[in-house]
Amino acid sequence: MSISQKLEEIRKAATTELEAAGDAKKLEEWRIRYLGKKSRLNEVLRSLSRLSLDEKKTVGAAANRLKVELEEWLGQKERAVRRDRMEASAAEKGIDISLPGRPFPAGRLHPVTQVYREIDAIFTSMGFEVVEGPEVEWDYYNFEALNIPAEHPARDTMATLWIDSEEKDNGKTRLLRTHTSPMQVRVMEQKSPPVRIVVPGKVYRYEATDATHIPMFHQLEGLAVDKGITLADLKGTLYEFACRFFGKDRRVRFRCDYFPFVEPGVEMAIECAVCKGDGCRLCGNSGWIEILGAGMVHPRILERVGIDPEVYTGFAFGMGIERMPMLRYGIDDIRLFYGSDLRFLRQF
Ligand code: DAH
Repeated sequence: MSISQKLEEIRKAATTELEAAGDAKKLEEWRIRYLGKKSRLNEVLRSLSRLSLDEKKTVGAAANRLKVELEEWLGQKERAVRRDRMEASAAEKGIDISLPGRPFPAGRLHPVTQVYREIDAIFTSMGFEVVEGPEVEWDYYNFEALNIPAEHPARDTMATLWIDSEEKDNGKTRLLRTHTSPMQVRVMEQKSPPVRIVVPGKVYRYEATDATHIPMFHQLEGLAVDKGITLADLKGTLYEFACRFFGKDRRVRFRCDYFPFVEPGVEMAIECAVCKGDGCRLCGNSGWIEILGAGMVHPRILERVGIDPEVYTGFAFGMGIERMPMLRYGIDDIRLFYGSDLRFLRQF
C-alpha cells in the first residue's frame, strides 16, 4: 500500500469514527487513536525520514495537511458536543437559553465623591498634595491651636459634638472635628515648608437638620506655606479653582471676613447662578453666594508649630463640599445627598 493510500484510509476511518463519537470520553479516545504518539498518522510522519527528497515533499505535505484537518475536525466536534450537552441540560432544567440576558446594573459614585475627586484633581494639578486626617479630634487641634481657646466666642459658631464630656477646657478633650482646619496644624507640626496640601473629609456639627444644615457634611481645607506667599497667591489660586469648577463666566468676589486662625481673613463668593447677580431668594437678594472662608495663616499659629513667621507666610482656605454641586446644579436641599433616593443619585 502506498503512503497516500494509507493516508486516505486513515482519513476515512477517522471521519466515520468521529461522526460516531458522541461524548467527551469518546472524543479523547479518538484523539489518542488518530493524533496521539502511537497513531498511524504519526507513524507515517516518522517514516518520512526514510523517503527520498521528492517523496518527502509531496507525501510529507499531504500527511501534515491531514494532521491539521484532523485537529480542525476534532475542535469542531468538541464544540458541537459541548453545545448539545448544554442544550440538553438546559432543556432538562427548563431553561430557555434563547432569552436575552438581564442587564447588569452598573453602580456609580456618590455625587459628593465625584465632586471631591474633581476638586482634588484641580488642586493637585496646581501642585497641592491630598492628605486626610482623623474625624475624632483633640480639642487642641480643632480649637486651641487655631487661636480658639475655651470661652472664645468663635466656639459658639460651631456647635460641637463632644466625645469626652468632662474637663472640656484643658485641650485634652476629644470631639468630632467641626471643620477640616485642625489638619493645618497637624501637617505643619510634621512637615517644614514648603507645604502645599488639600484635606478632604467629613466634619460634624450638633445642629438641627433643615434644607441647609445636616449634622455631618464634608469640607475641603487648603494650606500653602512658603517664603514670600501673599494674599495675591491666595486670590490667584482660588480664582483659578472657581474658573475651573464653575466656569470662566461666573464672577467671583473677595471680601473681608473674620476667622481666628487667619489674618487678614477673607470670604469668597460667586455670582448667583439663578439671578446672575440681580438678587433672588436663593442668594438672599444679594446676587452673591458665599462659598468659602480663607486668609493668611495667623503668625501665632506658625509660631506654635515652630515655623518662623518673619521668614515664612502662608494662606489657608476651607470650603463646604456639598455646597459646590448645590450651586452648580441648583439643588436647594442638602438632605437630598443623604436620603439614598436613587432617583436623585442616578442623575449624577
Ligand atoms: N474652618 C472654617 C469653617 O469651617 C472655614 C475656614 C475659614 C477655613 C478660613 C480656613 C480659613 O482655612 O482660612 O467655617
